Amino acid sequence: MDESSYSYKITGGVPLKGDINISGSKNAVLGILAAAMMIDGTCTLENVPDIADVRVMIEICQSLGAKFEVNESSEDTLTVFIDPRDINTYEATGPGVSRIRASYYLLGALLSRCGKATLRMPGGCDFGQRPIDLHLKAFKLMGAKGADPRKVNGGVITLNAAPLHGAKVFLDIVSVGATINIMLAATKAQGQTIIVNAAKEPHIVDVANFLNSMGARIKGAGTDTIRITGVSELPGNFTYSIIPDQIEAGTYMVAAATTGGDVTIHNVIPTHMDPLSSKMREMGYTIDEGDDYIRVYKDPEEEIWGTNFKTAPYPGFPTDLQPQTVVLLCLSKGLSKMDEDVWENRYQYIPELSKMGADINIFDHIALVNGIDCFYGAEVRATDLRAGAAMVCAALAAEGTTYISDAYRIDRGYQKIVEKLRALGAQIEVVEDTSSFVDSEA
Ligand code: EPZ
Repeated sequence: MDESSYSYKITGGVPLKGDINISGSKNAVLGILAAAMMIDGTCTLENVPDIADVRVMIEICQSLGAKFEVNESSEDTLTVFIDPRDINTYEATGPGVSRIRASYYLLGALLSRCGKATLRMPGGCDFGQRPIDLHLKAFKLMGAKGADPRKVNGGVITLNAAPLHGAKVFLDIVSVGATINIMLAATKAQGQTIIVNAAKEPHIVDVANFLNSMGARIKGAGTDTIRITGVSELPGNFTYSIIPDQIEAGTYMVAAATTGGDVTIHNVIPTHMDPLSSKMREMGYTIDEGDDYIRVYKDPEEEIWGTNFKTAPYPGFPTDLQPQTVVLLCLSKGLSKMDEDVWENRYQYIPELSKMGADINIFDHIALVNGIDCFYGAEVRATDLRAGAAMVCAALAAEGTTYISDAYRIDRGYQKIVEKLRALGAQIEVVEDTSSFVDSEA
């Protein structure tokens, strides 16, 4: 079936039970694939999630001339051998570039490798303008020519390194993408670059660790201030394993809770889940933790009460778990509040959730959620990746059957979600698209 022609059919009401393995982090591996384009040798990535965005990013890198060998590993993940030495262009302008947001990492990577970069403007989930001005301002401070947001001609931007030199960059907004892109550009710049007010997400640390494995000199990743000392060679020739996906893990924690189930989620880093675990305990769920697993269940005597959430850069509550958590709040007693403070328009899924019985009022970036007894099955749409995941969580808990169209958006960031949920007892299958919508995505 082609991209927009299938839906998920879910018959809800089954408590999820059992064990599940989390795959590698989407938002780490996309930055790491771009970073690998800078290597003067080769590398092997392990624990790579087999998701659509990874396949698109690999295709884009192959279009530059990089060579890939992709193998299924025994742990149901991908092992990817990368040889970027035959890269023969600095232009990333093919159609795939505008299908994902992370293609913008090729600006920093190609500036470092080729001294020049031409990029078609990136795509990604549609919940706001999603500018790249912070990236371009930083590149300009580092000496790049053409780094002017006003000079994006026909959706394509060209930067010249001239060459790049170190700079002190203050990010007035904490930005994951800008933090990673500046690390990429600074890796081979002359002198030291300092990123102040840097993003601290687990995937930032993973990209920095990968860059250091390549031969880069990066200190402070995971703190507000990151220092990068430029180097001339990136020998590579190493193997690197991607960290577990914090957002996939959080999604399954919510799915276990909304269905009243008992699920142990393996191959996680429990501290990465603290922003969610602490709030779910506050609501009345039981969250047990081991070295690399989290168990989610509920004491039958315990009532689940709503609470207030506010999204923020890590270690705050992750915006990428906002839609899924609103579903959890719908099934909690009382009035709850979600304050979406990262993206200006990340409630586009609420009308879909209302078709299933949600009682939510939006006031700008605040969602006020009245607890309901249950969701009811309906025909709904995945308006973006995490919104689609939220619809899955609601459908699993709903009375009756739900059809989620544009399900391809969910597969952008969740490896084998149908198989993983079936293994926990969910009644989910892929069917031809049921929506009567014309796909309105730009
Ligand atoms: C990354 O997007 C993630 N995507 C997003 O996850 C995630 O929601 C976001 O970080 C925040 O955690 C990938 O890693 C591929 P930002 P990114 O730059 O880098 C503003 C998912 O579901 N901003 O941290 O695009 C921006 O408008 C996806 O996996 C500027 O103003 O996010 C936003 O308000 C969805 N100018 C805020 O900063 C810029 O130049 C945070 O954006 C860049 C960003």
